[in-house]
Amino acid sequence: MPSLGVNIDHVATLRQARYRGLPDSPNAGPDPVEAALVAEEAGAEGITAHLREDRRHIQDRDIHRLRERIRTKLNLEMGLSPEILPLALQVRPADICLVPENRAEVTTEGGLDCAGRLEEIRQAVEVLQSNGSRVSLFIDPDEPQIQSAAKSGAVFVELHTGAYANATGPAQEMELLRLRHAVGHAKALGLRVNAGHGLDYRNTPPIAALEGVEELNIGHAIVARAVFAGLHAAVREMVGLARGPR
Ligand code: PXP
Repeated sequence: MPSLGVNIDHVATLRQARYRGLPDSPNAGPDPVEAALVAEEAGAEGITAHLREDRRHIQDRDIHRLRERIRTKLNLEMGLSPEILPLALQVRPADICLVPENRAEVTTEGGLDCAGRLEEIRQAVEVLQSNGSRVSLFIDPDEPQIQSAAKSGAVFVELHTGAYANATGPAQEMELLRLRHAVGHAKALGLRVNAGHGLDYRNTPPIAALEGVEELNIGHAIVARAVFAGLHAAVREMVGLARGPR
């Protein structure tokens, strides 16, 4: 069963809602680094943070502080941006997940067009992996994307579970089947497989049960539940769903 990576972006969203530009204010909480430490305490095996070009939630300083303070591993999500790349090389997180990024989107919408941008992606993968980070490509569970990901040299793909999460009934069953095929195809090509996006307390178990998925990256549902249950309890419950009954 997969491990859980907790995405703490939305802890920073809450902070930025009031204290944009004042990260050192004594009232500037909640601190995503403190949230990461609580998530680890509750059983998370990795911390994920997306440094967006518009810095709408996570700030550069958060990434440096996460790298210094967490005890599990940092998974930095980033767009293929020449502006973010130097920071990724300097911080050298254990994992880097390359995602498509569009300023107008509310959250990452589709997967990376690995097939259409193969050469650019291949070069970024080479630079980042030779610097000591393992690269994952966030892609839709489609054959051409998986084939291109395998050609890029990346160690991992993260399969986009958004379409599955947004579907219901038989359509959701179809999306689950599509993900199952994609996992098998990726593994057959030598890729390691993670999954994430839109996963919550209801729809996570069937994804966690997919043979071959190593890690689930989950953010919004956990931070939303934390408002009522507290972060420790919210993470602990999701760790239980990701790992399944033992
Ligand atoms: N994985 C990737 C690559 C993402 O971009 C995101 C959203 O930042 C997530 C996982 C987590 O998605 P959610 O917040 O919907 O759980």
